[in-house]
Amino acid sequence: MTIRLRPTTPDDLDRVLDAEAHRENAPFVTQWTRAQHAAALDHPDMRHLVVETVPDGRAVGYVILAGLAGARDGAELRRIVVTDKGCGYGRETLRLIKTMAFRDLGAPRLWLDVRTNNPKAKRLYEEVGFVEDRA
Ligand SMILES: CC(C)(COP(=O)(O)OP(=O)(O)OC[C@H]1O[C@@H](n2cnc3c(N)ncnc32)[C@H](O)[C@@H]1OP(=O)(O)O)[C@@H](O)C(=O)NCCC(=O)NCCS
Repeated sequence: MTIRLRPTTPDDLDRVLDAEAHRENAPFVTQWTRAQHAAALDHPDMRHLVVETVPDGRAVGYVILAGLAGARDGAELRRIVVTDKGCGYGRETLRLIKTMAFRDLGAPRLWLDVRTNNPKAKRLYEEVGFVEDRA
């Protein structure tokens, strides 16, 4: 089973909000209101994307890419939540996001913040090539 990324729609927001607030995810990601997510859907600086399986189109998470309007810092992976964990979807999502950022959007850099209480995500980021910058 593989995955793809598609633009999040208003119909997806219930699922996005549920995933964000779920006890398995909430300790690791910032909590946004529905209005904040809705504003990100068509924000020129952002891509709000649903992670879905191929070919059945089952939503298994979402990502938010930000900083696309020419920021010198490059693109920011603002959020990633995978609801069906341990299936490789997170790793594959990061591969797709890297392609989108560097090849499709021409970002000079892709960066993210990870909380110190999240070694699982940190290890995954390191495995796919992110390098720690404490500055
Ligand atoms: C972090 C997250 C995105 C990873 O997605 P995922 O689909 O569960 O991860 P994958 O199945 O692709 O696994 C990738 C790697 O994560 C690690 N991992 C996965 N499940 C794990 C577990 N239960 N315990 C420890 N490490 C685990 C492994 O290193 C794994 O590599 P492997 O496949 O070689 O074993 C997902 O778990 C998630 O949404 N977590 C909550 C929100 C969050 O932390 N977001 C990131 C904020 S910075």
